[in-house]
Amino acid sequence: MTDRDIILCVTGGIAAYKAAALASRLRQDGASVTVAMTNAAQKLVTPHTFEGVTGNPVATTLWPEPGLYRLDHISLADRADMVVVAPATANIIAKAAAGIADDLVSTTLVTLGADRPVVIAPAMNNRMWANPIVQRNVRTLKDLGWHIVEPAEGWLACGEKGPGRMAEPDDIRAAIETTLQ
Ligand SMILES: Cc1cc2nc3c(=O)[nH]c(=O)nc-3n(C[C@H](O)[C@H](O)[C@H](O)COP(=O)(O)O)c2cc1C
Repeated sequence: MTDRDIILCVTGGIAAYKAAALASRLRQDGASVTVAMTNAAQKLVTPHTFEGVTGNPVATTLWPEPGLYRLDHISLADRADMVVVAPATANIIAKAAAGIADDLVSTTLVTLGADRPVVIAPAMNNRMWANPIVQRNVRTLKDLGWHIVEPAEGWLACGEKGPGRMAEPDDIRAAIETTLQ
């Protein structure tokens, strides 16, 4: 993992707080981690948390104020050895499967998804995960060669139990390590 550049995309699932533990662990392993967050993710966890654990600026928008430092999809693409999406919402999975590029994270995935390894860790309510539309979109990404870290079964933040809970940071880390080899 040493000296590897990892773009960690954080989307708006309640498991976004666990992405901070993942980012911290990857940094401890010697990787340089740059976090890109969707608007929904920023409602759940502040970018300051990720800036703190990674030591790097966090990319929060495709549209920074003119003249301000740009951390955009192209500069992210240039530096990345791989892209990780954790947690991956039903929404970003659908957008990625359709090639939609309408915000920083989805545009980064369209920019990088064809020529860099992508690891995604879906996380959602068990009924969302069971939805055939979601399953179809996940299959599309698998067929494209993206690595899916399957969600676990267990307690979900909505109070239900079932499959949909994001894999633990250590399991996502292991998938990243395997993918980088
Ligand atoms: C408190 C809260 C928690 C949410 N958790 C999830 C989740 O775990 N998985 C998911 O797919 N959507 C979840 N959503 C819905 C997404 O945030 C919503 O679909 C959003 O549009 C996703 O945007 P993004 O993919 O750009 O981050 C949650 C919404 C709220 C309000």
